[in-house]
Amino acid sequence: MKAVRVALLGCGTVGREVVRLLDEQADELAARVGAPVELVGIAVRRPHKHTDVPAHLLTTDVSGLVNRPDVDVVVEVIGGIDPVRGLLLDALKAGRGVVTANKALLAEDGATLAEAADASGADLYYEASVAGAIPLLRPLRESLAGDKITRVAGIVNGTTNYILSAMTAAGAGYREALDEATELGYAEADPTADVDGFDAQSKAAILASLAFHTRVTAADVYCEGISAVTAADIAAADAVGCTVKLLAICERVPGVDGPDSVSARVYPAMIPNTHPLASVDEAYNAVFVEAEAAGQLMFYGQGAGGAPTASAILGDLVAVARNRVGGGRGAKESLYASLPVQPMGETPTRYHISLEVDDRAGVLATIAGLFAQHRVSIATVRQDLAALDFVPGASTGRGARLVIVTHTAPDAALAATVTALGELDEVLGVDRVLRVENLGRPVSALGVA
Ligand code: NDP
Ligand code: HSE
Repeated sequence: MKAVRVALLGCGTVGREVVRLLDEQADELAARVGAPVELVGIAVRRPHKHTDVPAHLLTTDVSGLVNRPDVDVVVEVIGGIDPVRGLLLDALKAGRGVVTANKALLAEDGATLAEAADASGADLYYEASVAGAIPLLRPLRESLAGDKITRVAGIVNGTTNYILSAMTAAGAGYREALDEATELGYAEADPTADVDGFDAQSKAAILASLAFHTRVTAADVYCEGISAVTAADIAAADAVGCTVKLLAICERVPGVDGPDSVSARVYPAMIPNTHPLASVDEAYNAVFVEAEAAGQLMFYGQGAGGAPTASAILGDLVAVARNRVGGGRGAKESLYASLPVQPMGETPTRYHISLEVDDRAGVLATIAGLFAQHRVSIATVRQDLAALDFVPGASTGRGARLVIVTHTAPDAALAATVTALGELDEVLGVDRVLRVENLGRPVSALGVA
């Protein structure tokens, strides 16, 4: 039986695990595919560093490897936009199957790759690009293709979840936890992609595209990372029975007089400790998918790391190899809907605001009036007596700490309220602002329905 011949681009955290699995499971893979899967070359930058893979396979001529006429499938685990975009376009135009974990490229220019794949009839698979080992994209693209998906939301970045978990459970410092996550192979080559939210932003774009049959790019996804999250934020969340998580939220927003739209956003948010996402720790990921007929589905597993990601790559490689052996092509994207993207300012969210104010009569009324001016409804107000040296019936002459949780309001109205709060003479400082999410459930931990 003619072998399916594979070129591997990159041999770092993920690539070396792909090499290991291809070697260790060669017989099983051949049986599953119906032909041997043969690794014919590995492109890297610094061959001398790769003493654990067969030396004769290594090359620095990545373009030469991609364009070798005997290559059937290109597996790309280099990362980044260029030169990878051109390499994958070459492969697809030549009709080679492509398997990639490169969410940055897919979220920036997935359309160009998909067009090249369609033009030549080549397969383009990218399960490993979102949520590591978790089978998520294939269920969205195939298993749920007959349903109407309304929301895909959860934790899709292992590095930031590792950092937030360590800060929450062990009181670890931000920097120390990031160094550990990098050491464990979870972080991107440039970890600012993780902590500034860009990695989750790319993943949200990919998820929203598949879920809502609409091309969503990274630029369409509102993004805030965790680099500004402090131990004080985590303590403030804990005080109200919540945990801070970096969430990616993709929703289909029903249109009132026009078409539905897509909301896609990434930010750190408080979620109640009772929510299943609150107990997703370390580099694990978890994603809820809600569909009209299926109801709620939860996908959970290792979201980063060499071996878990290589598992997803191998799954795709088997699918592409089977298609080559049997003839035909896997399911392609169906991006017919072209729904508009809702601006973040119009997206309904809920804020938890912690502020220091003058402790005197009338201040609360002024603050409540300001919320009312911006048409933001207050759900709960708490004054932290323990921190105040509170003297009944008198001003303490010091600042008082207020914690205000709002009802849902458009994000622009909430942001304008926070700006206006900062300008009030009565407000000594707005200390912390975090969004509150419960992904469709009542936020009962905060006393908010
Ligand atoms: P690494 O940085 O560990 O590995 C990158 C590899 O690419 C290295 O072997 C490097 O060679 C090689 N490389 C870089 N530039 C070139 C080039 N111009 N030509 C040839 N080879 C090159 O990255 P990861 O393995 O962590 O990630 C790879 C991809 O997988 C990225 O797209 C990432 O987003 C994605 N991914 C990663 C996950 C993870 O947990 N790490 C999980 C899911 C997806 P050399 O070693 O010689 O420098
Ligand atoms: N850096 C990514 C993460 C790798 O931490 O989730 C997995 O995509």
